[in-house]
Amino acid sequence: IKVNPTVIIIFGGNGDLTKRKIIPALYNLFLENRLPEQFAIIGTSRTGFTDQKYRDSLLEGINEFSRTGKAKKEAWAKFSSNISYQASDIKDVASYNEFDSKISTLKEEWKQDPSILYYCAVSPDLFCTIAENISKSKLDNHKETTRIIIEKPFGRDLESAKALNTKLLTIFDEKQIYRIDHYLGKEVVQNVMAFRFANTIMEPLWNRTHIEHVQISVTEQIGVEDRGGYFDHSGILRDMIQNHLLQLLCIIAMEPPVNFDADLVRDRKVDVLKAIRKIVPGTIDTMAVRGQYGPGWVEGKEVSGYREEVDVAPDSNTETYAAMKFNIDNWRWQGVPFYLRTGKRLFKSASHIIIQFREVPHNMFNNGEQNVLKQNLLIISIQPDMAIRFQLESKIPGLEMNLNTVDMVFDYSAKTKIDAPEAYETLLLDVISGDQTLFMRADQVEAAWEVVMPVLDYWKKNTMNNFPNYPANSWGPENAEALIAKDGFHWINLPDK
Ligand code: BG6
Repeated sequence: IKVNPTVIIIFGGNGDLTKRKIIPALYNLFLENRLPEQFAIIGTSRTGFTDQKYRDSLLEGINEFSRTGKAKKEAWAKFSSNISYQASDIKDVASYNEFDSKISTLKEEWKQDPSILYYCAVSPDLFCTIAENISKSKLDNHKETTRIIIEKPFGRDLESAKALNTKLLTIFDEKQIYRIDHYLGKEVVQNVMAFRFANTIMEPLWNRTHIEHVQISVTEQIGVEDRGGYFDHSGILRDMIQNHLLQLLCIIAMEPPVNFDADLVRDRKVDVLKAIRKIVPGTIDTMAVRGQYGPGWVEGKEVSGYREEVDVAPDSNTETYAAMKFNIDNWRWQGVPFYLRTGKRLFKSASHIIIQFREVPHNMFNNGEQNVLKQNLLIISIQPDMAIRFQLESKIPGLEMNLNTVDMVFDYSAKTKIDAPEAYETLLLDVISGDQTLFMRADQVEAAWEVVMPVLDYWKKNTMNNFPNYPANSWGPENAEALIAKDGFHWINLPDK
């Protein structure tokens, strides 16, 4: 795709997200010749830096966090010559005029109007201030080539999400707003679309006739680390389920869009969110389970409980684990439960989706003791393993008709020579080329809040008196097992590869 010259202004240019994700992603795109020939990156924050000092600090970030390893000297020299720094006060409109004059200089040099991307890598309470100041300093000019990028959380409930959307939409058009949910940029997650819609054998199976239930699981071994202040006011339902896990559910459950038009794809996802059966008060304890981690041991090291973490209230009622059941009221999924679980300080870090197919109608192999058939599974491993595997029943080679379970595997590490790009590489390239397919539209964000609001409200009103209720390094609270067991299923934990 032919892309415009591009100026990327990063608010929070000295922050963690910039160093860990944004700059390494842009650098890798540069290595792959994916950036426009003419581009400029302007980092900005309150601290004063020279351009050189700023570049040096970004280089450290690349060396530590880039998937391609340490920066190559020549490539870095070329790439970094496009990076500059400007100290600014986000709240002061005068700073924005300086961006404007930098952009004008570049315009003259490039002899072309560049696309301008404002990346808000700052706390969400500053999104509106930035947008307003962009508008006041006339940097927005309502062109599709002027874009603003924001990161979750998009509000902390339905009401605040609506207020944020309304505010942003008074300044920008929806086509200019890129709301990142980085799970949508993950390689395997994108492949689910190809897997479902580029193979004729999938569609006939992908419905209530053949699928019994679906599990979506994103477990993390880490605790809240240094984000206690943020997390304690958020909790895992807001932090993970409202966005990442519900988006995974949408990708599994959506109807085929007519084509890859960003709005058509997003329409089909919104349809799913709207079809999720409203969780009504009185049933919440049977549909949602919460947990909070206590102290324990992880890989031989003693770790604190959640309430002892920095910036967390010692009597905190915030959940660090959640498991939920969703029903989707439409033709395809009636009667097929979707179970979602996610948590911190769990036994291991792994994200996967498991689709369990129905039993065969009659088992002709059962000889009393052997050959109890296992139900087929489709296992989509997102990370750290990247693989899609079908678990099927198969004859054990030999003279008897005995069966066992085998895997048919598409394993990325074995099959693809190219390293999969990081989610941020995919997403940033999409912003540069103006493709919104993998970004959250305003109504998508609001529909997802609508789904979780009854549980958030109920949990706020009804505090837990048994927190912490799971030790570090476990699979979460016991009643999470009960949530799924009462329907006759169990959480499937995958063995290491
Ligand atoms: C973020 C959450 O959105 O996603 C974090 O705020 C979480 O709490 C992270 O750790 C998980 O992302 P990934 O890509 O490491 O699975």
